[in-house]
Amino acid sequence: MLTNKTVAIIGGTSGIGLCVAEIAISLGASVVVGGRNGERIEKAVQRLGSSARGAEVDNLNQASIKAFFEAAGAIDHLFTPGASYARGRIDEVTDEVAESSFKSKFWGQYYAVKHALPHLAKDGSITLMAGAYSVRPAPNGAAYGACNAAIEGLGRSLAVELAPVRVNVVSPGTIDSDLWQRQPTELRDASFSSYSDVALLKRVGTTDEVAGTVAFLMQNTFMTGSTLYPDGGFALR
Ligand SMILES: NC(=O)c1ccc[n+]([C@@H]2O[C@H](COP(=O)([O-])OP(=O)(O)OC[C@H]3O[C@@H](n4cnc5c(N)ncnc54)[C@H](OP(=O)(O)O)[C@@H]3O)[C@@H](O)[C@H]2O)c1
Repeated sequence: MLTNKTVAIIGGTSGIGLCVAEIAISLGASVVVGGRNGERIEKAVQRLGSSARGAEVDNLNQASIKAFFEAAGAIDHLFTPGASYARGRIDEVTDEVAESSFKSKFWGQYYAVKHALPHLAKDGSITLMAGAYSVRPAPNGAAYGACNAAIEGLGRSLAVELAPVRVNVVSPGTIDSDLWQRQPTELRDASFSSYSDVALLKRVGTTDEVAGTVAFLMQNTFMTGSTLYPDGGFALR
């Protein structure tokens, strides 16, 4: 249970982060959800109800991250799935695209942890977001695959540095979230179909399945330094 705990989620207004907010509230927590867009924050808070608050944050901007945690106040658990990036082949994309995942997904989470620390309970936890391309890279995003592997390494390193605060990583396969629902139908169908062909369980995942993994990592007080892969067996094939 997460009774009387406060959970901060950067990227909590949509997709996996919003689903984690719903599960955390059902387990007794109050949540602070962050994202860049004020309207999306308002909509998420309305949907989540009286146990939710929201604050704007852009993880590309350290001052914004610091202000988010000052607004959040004391927190027990942190989850940081919010990131804005693009990806593509090394011989096809600009340097800006190539570097975008490290800038937002890696350094964005690193600085989120840095600025959360003064507000985070010593018996609390941090769950970082990576992705299973860390261990089974796609052919169109070498920097993105490496970024996810780096986040898994960051989680292990922070677990050592920050104990007794627990630090873990969730590294999902393809998940049918709002992120994919915003893509053109043809691209989504093709991606889901090729993922389903490869994954042992022959389908993409749901936001509930990832959120359940994150809720487990928050609640289990002996888990630290681990990476869990809710990926339907994608990484094994
Ligand atoms: N869905 C998948 O298949 C999948 C698989 C593996 C890993 N992941 C990882 O999971 C994370 C979330 O994915 P999702 O599917 O839940 O996406 P989503 O539905 O698009 O949600 C993204 C959330 O992050 C926020 N956000 C985006 N850029 C931000 C920034 N620069 N600073 C702060 N917040 C930001 C968004 O709100 P605003 O746009 O209003 O800022 C939103 O709340 C991503 O890091 C992704 O790499 C997803």
